[in-house]
Formats: sequence, structure tokens, C-alpha cells
Amino acid sequence: MELIINLPGYENISLHLDDSGVIQHYQLCCSQQTTILFKSCLEKYGKKPSQWPKSNLFSYSQGLDKFGHSDNHHSSNNDERRAALLIQEIILRARGEWKPPYAGETVCNCRGVSSEEICHAITAKASSVEEVSQWTTASTSCTTCKDKIVELIQYRFLK
Ligand code: FES
Repeated sequence: MELIINLPGYENISLHLDDSGVIQHYQLCCSQQTTILFKSCLEKYGKKPSQWPKSNLFSYSQGLDKFGHSDNHHSSNNDERRAALLIQEIILRARGEWKPPYAGETVCNCRGVSSEEICHAITAKASSVEEVSQWTTASTSCTTCKDKIVELIQYRFLK
């Protein structure tokens, strides 16, 4: 199985898993923070992403120093947050649990913004509807799509 997580302009993670979900090889074209978090999970939890814990990724990414990387304090919080969201997506996809509430559809009809564009904005930097609007123009007209954007934000942050 091939698992590709792509955040255009930021990150590209490509994993090849065998039939039992074990990573055979991988390719990272990622930020330093995502690379560190990915390799830390690999080292600590093994080659089966479906068995990596998804619940503590955010605190885990903020405590990278305990894995021997002392340059953590130079990284921005946004890099850490993005890394945690991407690794979380890998885990959910590897478990077959990746089920965002909206996928492959236009969420904001007024502005023609797709669920994928909104998810990219959330993963890259947006944590609120206002920030999603700022980066994608979604929900800047009639705002009936606002609830869907909230659902996507909540899904990405597992709330
Ligand atoms: S549907 Fe998104 S602003 Fe109208």
C-alpha cells in the first residue's frame, strides 16, 4: 500500500507499507520539524504507523528535546503543529480511520473552495474559520459554509 501525504508547498511524505502495514521504505520531502517527529515515532514506536499513538502528538511534538534534538526551541509553534497534524493523518490513514466529514467536494459554493483546499489551509496554518477565510476566501460571502469549516477544523484537531 502506498500512503502519500501531500501539503503543496510545504510537505510531501510518501510511505510504502507491506500487507501487514509495516513501512518498507519511505521518502520525506518535509520541514525539519515533520522529519524529526516522523523519525522519532519510527524510532520509538516501530515501523507500523497504525500502532503509533495519535493522542499525544501535540505535546509529544513540543517535547522533542527528550528525543535528543536540542534545536527544538528554534522551531515555530506552527511547524510543530503542522508536523503533529501530518503524523496524525498518517496514523489515521494507516489504520483505515481517515474519514473527514467532507472530502472531494466544494464546501464553499460562493467562493468555489473545495474541502481539500480548506484542509490544506488548516494543516498549514489556520486554526479558526477566520483564518481559513483569510487563506482561502471560503466563508467570506453568505457564510452558510461556516459550520462545515468548523467541522473540518474539529476533525483535523480530533475534537
Ligand atoms: S457558501 Fe461559503 S460564503 Fe457562501
